[in-house]
Amino acid sequence: MSAALLFGDVVYFRIGPRRGYLITNPADVRHVLQDNARNYHKSPLYDKLRVWLGNGLLTSEDEFWLRQRRIAQPAFHHQRIAALASVMAAAARDAAVQWRTIASGDQPVDVDQEMMRLTRTVVLRALLGADLGPFAAKIDHAWAIINQHIGESFWSLGLTDRLPTSKHRRFQAARAVLQGAVDHVISQRRRNPSDSADLLSMLLSARDEETGEAMTDEQLRVEVTTFLLAGQETTSLALTWSWYLLSQHPGAQRRLEEEIDGVLNGRPPEYADLMNLPYTRMVIDEALRLYPPAWGFSRQALADDELGGFRLPRGWLAFVIPYVLHRLPAFWEHPEAFDPERFLPERSAERPKFVYLPFGAGPRQCIGKQFALIEAQLILATLAQGYRLHLVPRHRVEPWPLISLRPRFGMPMVIERRGAI
Ligand code: HEM
Repeated sequence: MSAALLFGDVVYFRIGPRRGYLITNPADVRHVLQDNARNYHKSPLYDKLRVWLGNGLLTSEDEFWLRQRRIAQPAFHHQRIAALASVMAAAARDAAVQWRTIASGDQPVDVDQEMMRLTRTVVLRALLGADLGPFAAKIDHAWAIINQHIGESFWSLGLTDRLPTSKHRRFQAARAVLQGAVDHVISQRRRNPSDSADLLSMLLSARDEETGEAMTDEQLRVEVTTFLLAGQETTSLALTWSWYLLSQHPGAQRRLEEEIDGVLNGRPPEYADLMNLPYTRMVIDEALRLYPPAWGFSRQALADDELGGFRLPRGWLAFVIPYVLHRLPAFWEHPEAFDPERFLPERSAERPKFVYLPFGAGPRQCIGKQFALIEAQLILATLAQGYRLHLVPRHRVEPWPLISLRPRFGMPMVIERRGAI
């Protein structure tokens, strides 16, 4: 942030052996992510993820990536969204009912963990039509270890990754739990084939145009793991940060509750209600601005290019950091302030598209963008209808840039019941 403010649109960086530019001019960002996207691959900083996850939709390139994207895309088609939304609404409702017990005491709960469980349930039910069976109880712990390990090794340049330390052994054990859970999801479906047109069916029934062959089991595993990873964590964080921001801004919290109560009048929200809940949506947009779960990404140039008048030699990196773009004073009035209404159409008209990128842009834009926004809006509306969340007094909240932007010390909050559930 300070480099961008001090030095301007293009800032030279060296990270270990790698060189590149932090770019913050929306025209340059557009050039890299969209107009000249063919000249870029995801950068070697993703190698860790690639080693761990394998070559799938999130990590692959070129023809192979395009094939996987085309296979998965119909699962997110807008015609399917209404059906998916009813699964999301039902999961949110289940969580609201479960919170009745928690809300009767004044013991705090970690909202970060609560949201993670809920968004995982949504991905499992809506996209994979599955549950985790015997792995359900172990997955929370495994997930936390995996996330921390990959996030930390991302910063450590991998120097200690392969040492057989106890940390590394813990990571391998957690990985085995996740692998087991993914295998369980796939074999469950193979045993009980379903005629639903969900993502898992699409992955299972896809055939190579030339060879007619199905995806290998290994590839299937990679894609299911990718969707579990990409689908739960980011959306869960969007919600966790929304709850945090609301708890710090009673005026916004009141506005949100008034909107929800006025529109829904006590009944649970459905997909058709979402267009009548614009403030709820703006709260999410603003949380994604201040705390973008995908806080930064990078690309590597395949051939020399030029950015903002500077030569970017082949092999150098371009860093696109939504956390920074979302706080540039040139485009955002009082960038540090929580102001959901900055997303009103009349206040957004002048803002360039490429300074707000919570979901990326161009061909590699998030495939789950609509899915995530609808899910977050439904969950926020359902839970805020029945409850108000209060951050534990004096708890230290600090954004922690791992793969995603997490609250370093969790988000312990007391859940107060406020409406009928
Ligand atoms: C608030 C929630 C979410 C945020 C902030 C988010 C953010 C992002 C971003 C920034 C990218 C692009 C990364 C890059 O260009 O390097 C991305 C890609 C991706 N996201 Fe999301 N995402 C969210 C939810 C989801 C959901 C719900 C799913 C699936 C159910 C999902 C699946 C994916 C996949 C598979 C990719 C790779 C797409 C490709 O390269 O073709 N994401 N996401």
